[in-house]
Amino acid sequence: MQEWFLKAKLGIFIHYGIYAVKGVSESWSFYHGSISYEDYMKQLEGFTASKFDADYWAELFKKSGARYSVLTSKHHDGVALFDTKANDLSVVKKSPAGKDILAAYIDAVRRAGLKVGVYYSLMDWSHPDYASVYPDGRVPEDLSSVNKFSSPTDGKQDEDAWQRFLEFDRAQLAEILGNYGKIDLLWFDGDWERGAQQWGLPELKNYLKSFNEDLIINNRFAGYGDYQTPEQGIPVNRPKGPWEFCTTINSSWGYQPRDNHYKSLRQIIHMFCDCLAMGGNLLLDIGPKEDGTIDPRQEAVLLGLGEWIRANEEAVYDSIAGISANYYGDGSVLSEDGTVLYLFVHNRPEEAVCVKGLKNRVKRATVLHSGKELRWDVHGGAPWNGIPGILWIYMNREDCGEYTTVIRLELTDKVCLYDGAGAAITNN
Ligand code: GLC
Repeated sequence: MQEWFLKAKLGIFIHYGIYAVKGVSESWSFYHGSISYEDYMKQLEGFTASKFDADYWAELFKKSGARYSVLTSKHHDGVALFDTKANDLSVVKKSPAGKDILAAYIDAVRRAGLKVGVYYSLMDWSHPDYASVYPDGRVPEDLSSVNKFSSPTDGKQDEDAWQRFLEFDRAQLAEILGNYGKIDLLWFDGDWERGAQQWGLPELKNYLKSFNEDLIINNRFAGYGDYQTPEQGIPVNRPKGPWEFCTTINSSWGYQPRDNHYKSLRQIIHMFCDCLAMGGNLLLDIGPKEDGTIDPRQEAVLLGLGEWIRANEEAVYDSIAGISANYYGDGSVLSEDGTVLYLFVHNRPEEAVCVKGLKNRVKRATVLHSGKELRWDVHGGAPWNGIPGILWIYMNREDCGEYTTVIRLELTDKVCLYDGAGAAITNN
């Protein structure tokens, strides 16, 4: 995995598309019939991007502390935000916006020094050749459950149509990777409706990497991706290998003005710390309005997160996964050499926080954002018998910041943990 991705820690996801015109859910609204396909597509007429300012976006992302961003170049609805020559279904050709949103976004993000990520839906519920075959080519017994946007409803597969569709996807991907300079990350979605062989894997992957051998691809690629993408539910166990947790700020990926179910900044920072503690990235989503402006509540979260990161930077970009919650409940990260443990404190303690099972000796404990030194001591244990005591670090509400506070715990050597279930002490 590329070093930049492992150290990036925060990315901004942007679901921008015609669904913001009526504020309906991206693509899924017509797929599930809460709006007709025709009415959904009429949103093209209202998509103006009239206040879209890519530099403003990029600056905002930068201020949030993100090191990369990922824009939906085409969602499952098939509407491209870029000037595709592979068909006519783009906001460039079919909406008053009339411009290549992807081009402006890529330029601005790159200029701001962020890595460039592009989301692309492999499946395309608008393309006439898409609904031509079934997942893995298997005709389902019960055809009544088949959605007409995904597969044929009559049980007949059309392999030629599917081949044409693959060529179309490939042509669009060649445009994205070939026409806009170096793309650092391709974020696929919607692979689940076909199998790896149907998507032409692994050949397709080799083809994509031929544009840029450092290209990172997420795992929604029928088993051929580079990292995992748990979504909306934060993992309880640490995923294997590199990973990124994607989530919304309210409950919607795209702009839905009726969705007021917002997470607070405190909750977002808590989730971000949970990702850091398990060695993952957070890909935090915003859903801009059709004119390209961003809901102030979403903007405030990005800015607040950035402030928190700047005050606690040492525990962010260069950190690695911390010790497990059995030892310290709120989560932690470690310095790369393992000699500094950064403990997250989400709520304000009355007296102290404790770390269990730590075999190391402590050099110093400080509050990361203020530098204030904290008193600590160890109770219990029998280190001569290999059983560590409990480390208590004394702090109270006055020592805390407004959001998650980080304790910087310097150890005399590389972190070393007890992993037993306790024992009698045979030599006192
Ligand atoms: C999903 C959805 C989608 C969203 C995406 C983001 O699986 O299909 O609407 O864009 O994940 O992770």
